[in-house]
Amino acid sequence: MGVRTVVHVGHPALRDPTREVSSEELASEDVQGFIDDLIETMRHAKGAGLAANQVGDDRRICVIEVQDNPRYPYKPPIPLTVLVNPRITLLGEERFYNYEGCLSVPDLRGVVPRAVRIRLQALDRTGSPVDEEIVGLSAGTYQHECDHLDGRVFLDRVEDTTTLTTWDGYHRFHKEAFESRARALVARFGS
Ligand code: NI
Repeated sequence: MGVRTVVHVGHPALRDPTREVSSEELASEDVQGFIDDLIETMRHAKGAGLAANQVGDDRRICVIEVQDNPRYPYKPPIPLTVLVNPRITLLGEERFYNYEGCLSVPDLRGVVPRAVRIRLQALDRTGSPVDEEIVGLSAGTYQHECDHLDGRVFLDRVEDTTTLTTWDGYHRFHKEAFESRARALVARFGS
């Protein structure tokens, strides 16, 4: 199929928790082709990540990749990552405030508290288990994508709604202060 249509907030698919994929299903041509489509769609839309329900699919799969992303120039690189049935455990109490955006929430950004340290458990696209700790700004990207798979969007987690802004407003009024905080976090954690 190739590039798929990304659905926007208001579409019920974004609110339905996704379902786990079995090993047999994961090995199928159907799911492998779908993963290729997710990657292609994420790259086409210049997203940092994309979850299956953002293209109207109910399987618990997301993809993440950050490489000089023009939408998020301060984000450290994350190599192409395919996560099947991911689960996140928040580690510790420390949070940072992330100015998030989303392909499913056009022209809006807002500040969301995220854990600086998480444990990620998932399968990769070959079915091999992934179990790693992710720290710093990158941890926010993983939490955002796993939220999607649970039927949540970042708007649900915005505590201070006065931080909501258009992308133009973000660039004019909030970018400088946020980027310096984001870069300090990246310097501290290396990711
Ligand atoms: Ni999103």
